[in-house]
Amino acid sequence: MKAAYVDRYGPPEVIEVREVAAPSPGPHDVLVRQMASSVSPADCAFRSADPFIVRLFDGLTKPKNPIPGGAVAGVVDAVGAAVARFAPGDRVFGTTDPKPGAMAELVLVPEDGALVAMPDGLDFNQAGGLTYSFLTAMPFLRNEAKLQPGQTILINGAAGSIGTIAVQLAKHMGAKVTAVCSTRNIELVRTLGADIVIDRTKMDFTEGAAKYDTVFDAVGKSSYRACRGILKSGGIYLTTVPSFAILGHMLRGKHADGTRAKLATTGLRPTADKARDMVVLRELVEAGVLRSVIDRVYPLREIAEAHRYVETGTKAGDVIVTIA
Ligand SMILES: NC(=O)c1ccc[n+]([C@@H]2O[C@H](COP(=O)([O-])OP(=O)(O)OC[C@H]3O[C@@H](n4cnc5c(N)ncnc54)[C@H](OP(=O)(O)O)[C@@H]3O)[C@@H](O)[C@H]2O)c1
Repeated sequence: MKAAYVDRYGPPEVIEVREVAAPSPGPHDVLVRQMASSVSPADCAFRSADPFIVRLFDGLTKPKNPIPGGAVAGVVDAVGAAVARFAPGDRVFGTTDPKPGAMAELVLVPEDGALVAMPDGLDFNQAGGLTYSFLTAMPFLRNEAKLQPGQTILINGAAGSIGTIAVQLAKHMGAKVTAVCSTRNIELVRTLGADIVIDRTKMDFTEGAAKYDTVFDAVGKSSYRACRGILKSGGIYLTTVPSFAILGHMLRGKHADGTRAKLATTGLRPTADKARDMVVLRELVEAGVLRSVIDRVYPLREIAEAHRYVETGTKAGDVIVTIA
């Protein structure tokens, strides 16, 4: 089968599309014929080993898992003898957790992994994009912000993968949503439900008069120090991106003004948690609460180009790789 392959850390050029042996399912495995997957900044970080800490997870000198990608969207090709939840022909989406390996024509997912039936009406490209952004954004809003109806939230990076889902989820949870993006994406985040949009090219959102229960920096471009003045007492600053500063603030706990800061590594949650959230994702898509935003679609043979584009940091929503 064809698969993207990364046998050394480096720039996008290190990704090759190769013929590799097709996997065969063990008794509890589901073999999925992949139709689409996504490329995220996290995938680029694992390819380039930047930040260095990636090497602690995926190999000090070279990737332990050479086939990249986490998002699964495809059709069940075969199942192991003990599998009861899925059958050949089922349309499914989810992740390859706990390991990558999604950028291949065939992928193995354990039956009890983060895999569910795709809702009717969702196409493979949409499904391939939704898993990464939802599985990251949902725990930030539900478990960390504990967002309540009527609360206020500011989302920085609202036009990115995580941001576009966070805006929709926060609205669904009944919050008043202020979204921060650049001029070209204002209309997009409005149509996703943002109540107020701040154009970051015209105004520094940390200098506004409004105060928020939650500031969610989905792209990790601001800091708790800069955002403290726009948090209500008891408010929380959340970021997706690690830094020594945020770790220091987390160790300190609640500050004198009642605000606090947190980095959550929702992408590293246990597979069982992600499996439960895939059921929630399916329900929200079926209910028409969430829609995916797709920026560009690349065929598998152009995966290096997809990585190059994601690394520009300018994508709006998801970058999809079609595999079939
Ligand atoms: N903690 C975790 O568990 C976890 C899991 C997955 C990913 N992540 C991390 O989360 C981050 C976001 O991922 P993503 O996929 O949502 O990103 P993304 O889709 O690549 O974000 C791109 C968007 O960010 C906006 N942007 C660019 N520069 C900005 C700036 N200086 N200030 C504000 N917005 C800016 C741009 O929109 P505008 O120009 O319109 O603003 C762009 O459309 C990545 O760093 C990723 O590695 C963390």
